[in-house]
Amino acid sequence: MRPTLIAGNWKMNGSLQSVIQLVEDIKGGDAGSAKLAVCPPAIFLMKVGGMLEGSQIALGSQNVCDQASGAFTGEVSGAMLKEAGCQYAIVGHSERRALYLESDALVAARFAMAQQSRLIPILCVGETLQEREDGITQQVVARQLGAVIESQGIEAISNSVIAYEPVWAIGTGKVATPEQAQAVHAYIRNLVAEQDAAVANKVQILYGGSMNPTNAGELLSQPDIDGGLIGGAALKAADFLAIGQAA
Ligand code: PGA
Repeated sequence: MRPTLIAGNWKMNGSLQSVIQLVEDIKGGDAGSAKLAVCPPAIFLMKVGGMLEGSQIALGSQNVCDQASGAFTGEVSGAMLKEAGCQYAIVGHSERRALYLESDALVAARFAMAQQSRLIPILCVGETLQEREDGITQQVVARQLGAVIESQGIEAISNSVIAYEPVWAIGTGKVATPEQAQAVHAYIRNLVAEQDAAVANKVQILYGGSMNPTNAGELLSQPDIDGGLIGGAALKAADFLAIGQAA
């Protein structure tokens, strides 16, 4: 059995005050046996990292620079994230791909730098509505994952987390059905298994896209869904914890 991971992606939301309150509420709550991680905006990582010291809740960043250091205005390095207390780094979120034009190659380079910095990358993959309607969901996911496997090797997947996030389900309230999600999760695991069965068996594959306390139980009971990457519902401690309990 793979352990369940429930990770909150807070995106560009909150203030110092609301973030402190959210961390306190999550720390004081009960998420059952699921492992929790929170990914606050970069500016709050040091603060949240300090608050989480000694707790079981992990810290993650929402991105990581593909370079170690130097003239890369606006970027944050893996070493800096590590210093802030991060254990995870999201890479390739669909908002980064769509709004900031991050290519498969750049995402693979960010993934590599996360691992070099001893961060566990949470690699996001997923198709747009148009791509699903065109029947190319599998090709899209295979291309996004393939870019990382081709440059980093299959072994790299072993120390990472994959998040399947259909773009049409992110922030829309339109959740994938448990069957739709399970089918893509199984496809992803098979892709990995074609190269290394042990890695496929080990890697956690999270679902993301409008997961909430009501739909989480059914999604998380699917055999290849090992947790969730939660956006909107992660901004309310009670909802986030309830998703953990549903696992
Ligand atoms: P959502 O976001 O839960 O608000 O749909 C998920 C994500 O973007 O990771």
